Amino acid sequence: MTTFEYKNNILHVENISLKDLACVHGTPLYVYSLSHILDRFNSFTNAFKPMSKSVQVGVHFAMKSNSNQAIVTILAKAGCGMDIVSGGELRRAVSAGVHPDKIIYSGVAKSVLEIRDVIDAGILQINVESVEEIQQINKIALDMGKVASVALRVNPNIDAKTHTKISTGQKTDKFGIDIELASDLYKQMLTMDGLNPCGIAVHLGSQLMSPEPFIDAYKLVAELAKDLMASGVPLKRLDLGGGLGIAYESSDTPPDVNAYCKMVMDTVGDTQLDVHFEPGRWLVGNSGTLIGCVENVKQNDVKTFILGDVGMNDLIRPTLYEAHHDILPVKESEETIVADLVGPVCESGDYMCKNRTLPKMRRGDFFAIMSAGAYGMVQASNYNSRGMPAEVLVQDNNAYLIRPRQTIEDLIDMDIVPEDLDW
Ligand code: LLP
Repeated sequence: MTTFEYKNNILHVENISLKDLACVHGTPLYVYSLSHILDRFNSFTNAFKPMSKSVQVGVHFAMKSNSNQAIVTILAKAGCGMDIVSGGELRRAVSAGVHPDKIIYSGVAKSVLEIRDVIDAGILQINVESVEEIQQINKIALDMGKVASVALRVNPNIDAKTHTKISTGQKTDKFGIDIELASDLYKQMLTMDGLNPCGIAVHLGSQLMSPEPFIDAYKLVAELAKDLMASGVPLKRLDLGGGLGIAYESSDTPPDVNAYCKMVMDTVGDTQLDVHFEPGRWLVGNSGTLIGCVENVKQNDVKTFILGDVGMNDLIRPTLYEAHHDILPVKESEETIVADLVGPVCESGDYMCKNRTLPKMRRGDFFAIMSAGAYGMVQASNYNSRGMPAEVLVQDNNAYLIRPRQTIEDLIDMDIVPEDLDW
């Protein structure tokens, strides 16, 4: 099944019309295809079937990309583990029924409470982000009378060739521990009773479009692993992170997942260690769209602005990362216009695209901002006192509301006006 296609001139997700969804639930509205998400998960695990004959392969969904409880639960039921970055994501994963031994925790500034919680839950692995944190986790584990399974998140100082705000594997980025220090640190960890150093973790960044940075990093990690094992460190696994890019427009050519698997086998296969992955965007990015509605169209002598009801508070990616999202009319249209699609927020940075050839749209027309399934809703905010969008999940002919629209009453009710103020 094609996830998004026009049927009788109306854009559908699976077998449901986006126009119907917009009319029933209002806009802005996030819509996800369940079949697409499950297909992607199955494609990922199938690609690694050859490898899983000799070693264990673990897939841990990077929940930060889309943490709606319905999506987390569905992936968990399909057998997917979780990559978490906070105590909040731990709670979501556990409440979705994810077994702790399928949870990996990577977080660059973990709180003491978060460290305690994940040790208490008995998760598979904590990825350690600094030399200081090694001591800290050891002490907390000892105080709790437990042993924490840890991996050092190494920073290989490799340029991921992605947007600078989502690049994580260079010394100028705040993430990980210099790979040159790792050998000594693993030996030190062997002497710490609160730690079980069982893995090596690496994550270079997000939306990687070429295999080279992965290859360079994985080779370094494999070399380190072999050295460590030769000197008696009982490693069990490599956590190779997430980062696989997706196509946001038809000219994009992200790495193919089967080629990625072959590359993993070629670079780290001879370590014989289990391999784990933390894909986020690759699993859910293309599954989702954000539907908006045109409020007005205005023109001056240099520009046309299509004024929509989707703001940077609903989808911040275009303005934060100069990200491209295809924009399709919900009702198919032949006519085009060069315009900026902008939102209602009081900032000039509040746009979905600039100077783009777009379908000609009029007040009341619906449009679909494509590939909004990852890092869309999770980065939404209440800026300008705008409620968060609603979310709908579609499977075949069925649509399920998985998060209602936040109302202004919800927002006002969160604030407290002190009663005994001295006016
Ligand atoms: N593992 C770690 C340690 C991460 O930091 C991330 C993403 C992932 C896995 C998942 O990466 P993915 O497979 O999704 O590329 N908000 C940005 C993306 C931030 C990514 C943060 N870390 C955006 O909208 O592009």
